[in-house]
Amino acid sequence: MSRQPLRRWMLAGALAGALGLSCTEPEEPFPNLDELELLQSLHSPTRNPPKDATNKYGDSEVAAALGHRLFDDPGLSRCGTISCKSCHDGEGRTVDTPVAEGCDGKRTGRNPPSILNAGYSTWFMWDGLADRLWNQALLPLLSPIEMNSSADILRARLSEAYAEDYRGLFGKLPSEEESDEQLLANFGKVIAAYERTVNRTDAPFDQDVIRFLSAVEAGTAEKDPAYLGLKTFVRKGQCAACHKGPMLSDDQFHNIGVKDQSDSQRGVMAAADTLLTWTFNSAGPYSDAAVGSVESGRLQRLSSDVKQKGAELEGAYKTPTLRNVALTAPYMHTGELRTLEDVIDLYDKGGEPVGNYAGMVSITIKPLELTDEEKKALVKLLESMTGAPR
Ligand code: HEC
Ligand code: HEC
Repeated sequence: MSRQPLRRWMLAGALAGALGLSCTEPEEPFPNLDELELLQSLHSPTRNPPKDATNKYGDSEVAAALGHRLFDDPGLSRCGTISCKSCHDGEGRTVDTPVAEGCDGKRTGRNPPSILNAGYSTWFMWDGLADRLWNQALLPLLSPIEMNSSADILRARLSEAYAEDYRGLFGKLPSEEESDEQLLANFGKVIAAYERTVNRTDAPFDQDVIRFLSAVEAGTAEKDPAYLGLKTFVRKGQCAACHKGPMLSDDQFHNIGVKDQSDSQRGVMAAADTLLTWTFNSAGPYSDAAVGSVESGRLQRLSSDVKQKGAELEGAYKTPTLRNVALTAPYMHTGELRTLEDVIDLYDKGGEPVGNYAGMVSITIKPLELTDEEKKALVKLLESMTGAPR
């Protein structure tokens, strides 16, 4: 794209500075070159999630069909009443309460995220406890609070209702699978194959960004209806410092000062050790990627980040995607914020007062002094991120 108009603006700014006009200098035109780059990163993602080399069944339609049936099956839980769908249902593929109920009325510690577009994610769970979609599926299956299941229950249910489907994919009956761990990994991989098909991308937001970028080029950015929303998102609100790229997430962990006095308030700092030593992680024996491949690079990075960044990752959670966020209230890992307006108010005040959460907030989280107009424009922008159903 031509950057002519921007260069002109920059030249004008430099001239104004040279002429000593800086005290009355108007605000730098939006976007500047760095901001333009951020805006260009916000394009819609590929139609389907990128291939996952650790799951060779990830793009199999047969696996996805079996995965869909398993996702909906309460017979996999110990109590017989809870399926994955129990907590990931409806348009938003989540629940509309702060936490959800698993077996025997037990309550989850955190807000269930949506499974929409989960195939595009690289970390799973709010604290990054899983690093692949397929290994994530084992956590709720085995959690005493969620499905409270076991390899034995899984084997029995697969034998009872899915024996031939299982053999079709894995070459043997569930009863012939010698290792419990292999059985569990196979379960995770077919569930993931299904989840990878549950996507809503292509949102009005994507059209707005494309149009806005042409307006920038034509020198008419300020007249564009998305101007105030995008400017606040990228400049004054600093939202795009973390919510960037096609999925509106940097795939990193940050502490934004969400009130949390629970046992699990340390976020990724507590989860990283468990993941790094987990048999089912992406570098372990159940990964389908070649040993020593780039797949293990992310885990090594996490390991060194935890050591080096220390305090910065204390109480830090994954930057969630903002795609479809209007469908997934309530918000944050605690599910404490009811509406998008509440979310904007939290950012506007720079997070909760110190003492309400572990660690310290990230440097980009500080009081924003947003006007009512800017807050409204941000909410409208977030609402425009709802993708088309497929
Ligand atoms: C009782 C409710 C409940 C059940 C049942 C349940 N989940 Fe969840 N799910 C949650 C909660 C709560 C979280 C967030 C947990 C956390 O971060 O600590 C979650 C997180 C996830 C995530 C991570 C999303 C992300 O963006 O990080 C995926 C994927 C997911 N669940 C899929 C499943 C699958 C597959 C099953 C069935 C095998 C399942 N869930 C069963 C409540 C549930
Ligand atoms: C420092 C990185 C960072 C910045 C800057 C940031 N966010 Fe976030 N955002 C996060 C993280 C991390 C979470 C999850 C925090 C948690 O649950 O503890 C989050 C959560 C959210 C959620 C809730 C999503 C859900 O599914 O519950 C929304 C909405 C949101 N951010 C919008 C914004 C907006 C709008 C701005 C700018 C005003 C912004 N964010 C700035 C990192 C950031």
